[in-house]
Amino acid sequence: MSELPQSPGFTSRPILRCRNLERYLGEGENRVQILRKVDLDLDRGKIYAITGPSGCGKSTLLYTLGLLDREDSGEIWIKDLKVSGADDHERTEIRNRTIGFVFQFHFLLPEFTALENIMLPMIKLGQMSSGAMQSRAHNLLEEVGLGEKSKRLANQLSGGEQQRVAIARALANQPDIILADEPTGNLDQKNSTIVIDLLCRMAREKDQTILVVTHNHAIAEACDQTLPMLDGVFASACEPA
Ligand SMILES: Nc1ncnc2c1ncn2[C@@H]1O[C@H](COP(=O)(O)OP(=O)(O)O)[C@@H](O)[C@H]1O
Ligand SMILES: [Mg+2]
Repeated sequence: MSELPQSPGFTSRPILRCRNLERYLGEGENRVQILRKVDLDLDRGKIYAITGPSGCGKSTLLYTLGLLDREDSGEIWIKDLKVSGADDHERTEIRNRTIGFVFQFHFLLPEFTALENIMLPMIKLGQMSSGAMQSRAHNLLEEVGLGEKSKRLANQLSGGEQQRVAIARALANQPDIILADEPTGNLDQKNSTIVIDLLCRMAREKDQTILVVTHNHAIAEACDQTLPMLDGVFASACEPA
């Protein structure tokens, strides 16, 4: 991959930074601004919750920061790389190497086993031997408490178990940043607690940064910082100086 331009010298060196991020969705006269000049700095090893009403742009922000969607203007740096302006190939590589995703719906491949689902991101990245990938996938399954179920097909696991596999998959390439979009939105209270405790514990052990969208107050309170969002920007950005 070609060298990306270096960001200007950071003093605090956030793991992820964006400035003036704008995103529009829709075509023609239905085109609406979803992200309104969003600024954000995330520190390594911290857990952040994004809260805010439905439709305020939380998912759009996560997808844009995670390089699944492209911003219309503004800048994003991940570690020391300025990723806005990078081509699709570079963005995919950066995403696979540095970011793990957990969604509300797990998106596991139902006809693959738990172990195979966890191996998929490693296969995509293509930097490990088959044996090493299997071994890491096994370790991750042990960590999420599913070591005994490695050969189960994804669709033969319960909802809570599937989301634990999805967490293991998100951690497969040892990402610096985990982006989680309502990861417990589809689970009952007991499984929500298990899943979020697991995600936070594993991230803290590995000094990873989590940005989690949640409507669950208990989850938001357990995070290091809550970032309330309103109509396409962080609410603090709207407060009078
Ligand atoms: N393809 C689209 N065209 C136009 N508007 C869209 C499109 N997709 C999403 N939106 C709108 O963008 C806004 C933000 O959506 P989203 O980021 O999913 O919000 P949240 O995750 O906070 O609920 C919503 O008002 C939604 O209706
Ligand atoms: Mg959403």
